[in-house]
Amino acid sequence: MKDAMIIGVVGAGTMGRGIAQVAATAGHSVKLFDQDAAAAGNALQFLGNILDRSVTKGRMSREEAEATLGRIEPVDSEGGLKDCGLVIEAIVEQPEVKSAVFERIEAHIAQGAIIATNTSSLSVTALASGLMRPERFIGLHFFNPAPLLPLVEVVPALQSRPDLAAEMSALMRQWGKQPALAMDTPGFIVNRVARPYYGEAIRLLEEGVADAATIDWAMTTLGGFRMGPFALMDLIGNDINYAVTESVWKSFHHDPRYRPSFAQKRNVDAGWLGRKSGKGWYDHQEGADAQQPRQDKALGQDILWRILVMLINEAADAVFWGVASADDVDRAMQGGVNYPKGLLAWAEEVGLDRCVEALDALKAKYGEERYRCSPLLRARAMEGRGFFS
Ligand SMILES: NC(=O)c1ccc[n+]([C@@H]2O[C@H](COP(=O)([O-])OP(=O)(O)OC[C@H]3O[C@@H](n4cnc5c(N)ncnc54)[C@H](O)[C@@H]3O)[C@@H](O)[C@H]2O)c1
Repeated sequence: MKDAMIIGVVGAGTMGRGIAQVAATAGHSVKLFDQDAAAAGNALQFLGNILDRSVTKGRMSREEAEATLGRIEPVDSEGGLKDCGLVIEAIVEQPEVKSAVFERIEAHIAQGAIIATNTSSLSVTALASGLMRPERFIGLHFFNPAPLLPLVEVVPALQSRPDLAAEMSALMRQWGKQPALAMDTPGFIVNRVARPYYGEAIRLLEEGVADAATIDWAMTTLGGFRMGPFALMDLIGNDINYAVTESVWKSFHHDPRYRPSFAQKRNVDAGWLGRKSGKGWYDHQEGADAQQPRQDKALGQDILWRILVMLINEAADAVFWGVASADDVDRAMQGGVNYPKGLLAWAEEVGLDRCVEALDALKAKYGEERYRCSPLLRARAMEGRGFFS
């Protein structure tokens, strides 16, 4: 039956058009609505070019590409979503704007239809509370680019009907995605667990341990991460990355583990946003000299170890607080941000006791709460257990 379900997507921007492509590729008819009259048309043109490229590269036939695109129909109001069994919202990250859209969607769709939000940073529970039927509401957090990254965080609201998460996880699997079940807490899994990748890297820079190029070199060449933290922040945009950090920090009532940095704030203040502005941590302007890393292996290992141990601590703490299972935390970091290994599996590989020792040494050195060891990591190390046994 689910195959026949019509999917609605509201917001035809970066995420909405990607989600529409995923649903149409899985065989659904998709209704795409954007308040900007030109946006849905632009999205279709964009998707047409992507599908053309897939045909040229032999990844799909011309017929398949045309059929996929043909399944996506722009509609010019929320009324066009009335036959949808599931509507996924991917509009601006503003709670009052999202709530107004949910109200209009609810006025048109069937009683049993589901509404999902792609929010990255808002409380799914708070958004649900504005609905007439909050039990039909859930978070489906796709990653950018949605057609390429396999992870979808499935985030039930407190009010979601009990079977909704399992139903949506099954649907995501049908769409070829890897669902990870996350509790509705700030940053869900990925945007919480990944914070030290940026935060501890900037901290090392601020302390003068190494420059951006050397830290990036350590994380990629020695650690196997696809992009170094500074190159990645320049790609994401320092304004966006800073805003996510600040939002997670505020949502955690100013827990020092998530505290934003002065160095990144200065970049934002200067308009050094990264690639999009031509300058960020690096100079991206044409002809600029590339920064050369100091390829000192001992220094590089120290850098990698400190950032890795902070990531592992964050992953363990997410499990400790019931945000997600160990399996889902590891799957999320690989499927959502391409980490080379699951962090908890990595902890088992290097030894949990070594991770605890390293965190305790950092805490003793700096005297900061930022470096407190997760109770779960310490307990499992003391018991001589891992996270998966
Ligand atoms: N960009 C990312 O990397 C990313 C990743 C995961 C989740 N998200 C989340 O997905 C959502 C969308 O992000 P995006 O990057 O695609 O944004 P975007 O700016 O690219 O697109 C948003 C679209 O929504 C439309 N819109 C705005 N208000 C609307 C309304 N009231 N009704 C209908 N359409 C409306 C805009 O015209 C625009 O086309 C946000 O909640 C964001 O937090 C973004």
